[in-house]
Amino acid sequence: MSKPATNDQSFKLTDKVFNEFQKVTLTHTGIHLDDTKRAMITSRFSRRLRELGMGGFEEYLSCIRDTTHPEYAEFVDTITTNLTYFFREPHHFDKLREDILPGLQGISSTADPIRIWSAGCSSGQEPYSIAITALQESCAGHRKVKILCTDIDSKVIRQTEQGIYRSTELRGLTDHDKNLWFSKQADGGVRANESLRELIFCRYLNLFDPWPIKSHLDVIFCRNVLIYFDIGRQEKLIRGMAKLQKSKSILIIGHSETIANCSDVYRRTSNTMYERI
Ligand SMILES: C[S@@+](CC[C@H](N)C(=O)[O-])C[C@H]1O[C@@H](n2cnc3c(N)ncnc32)[C@H](O)[C@@H]1O
Repeated sequence: MSKPATNDQSFKLTDKVFNEFQKVTLTHTGIHLDDTKRAMITSRFSRRLRELGMGGFEEYLSCIRDTTHPEYAEFVDTITTNLTYFFREPHHFDKLREDILPGLQGISSTADPIRIWSAGCSSGQEPYSIAITALQESCAGHRKVKILCTDIDSKVIRQTEQGIYRSTELRGLTDHDKNLWFSKQADGGVRANESLRELIFCRYLNLFDPWPIKSHLDVIFCRNVLIYFDIGRQEKLIRGMAKLQKSKSILIIGHSETIANCSDVYRRTSNTMYERI
């Protein structure tokens, strides 16, 4: 009997059922739930099981096997790691401001927008850092900038769309940028101004589902996302991204990531930055 005796106790998560959780999560999201996540699952989902009036983890598991079940989204939102902050890995934004965007604005033969994808954007600090950079004087030009923001976590994608941040979520944002680009909220937080939000286009997307992207992408930020996937899945994603980029377009990954086995489609230009061949 796996039901806890009191409201404060956890349900029992057996090895067998935890293995099933690992399999379901890997199949649906590409994320490997390692053993360090077991305690988190036990405590957080014991509470959830009580809320749902369920008898144990087996019953919960049968719901999340179905990706259309409402509980599936709740489960994914809980297991994802969303750590992010404004201007994380600042050298990427220096390069964007000094080199990449002025170069793209310099192409006078096209009125096409500059298209940027923040793949695994979390709560939006990454795309808003891109938007702030794009609106700086040195990056201004005749081409509009469109930033597609996608994530598998429905809560963070909603937050990105709203552009609302609590005071504890402003790490990396200077007072200057905060005053210039955000409006104060009554609770001490801030909301991104319309001038930033109009560059942002949000969409829920599991990277392992088909991508609803028709146009080519000038710059892809896929930072601190690949790290959750095995090498085979990483390669599949990188090759998919290469198909969406023309020669000389840019791919930017996170500091602890590599794009193993893809040197035929991307050439490294500097630390964690690549150019489509
Ligand atoms: C650590 S955050 C990185 C956020 C941001 N790119 C940065 O570097 O600051 C990783 C994000 O990837 C998302 N993610 C994980 N697996 C995903 C998948 N299969 N499809 C889409 N997004 C995924 C998570 O929900 C999370 O928000």
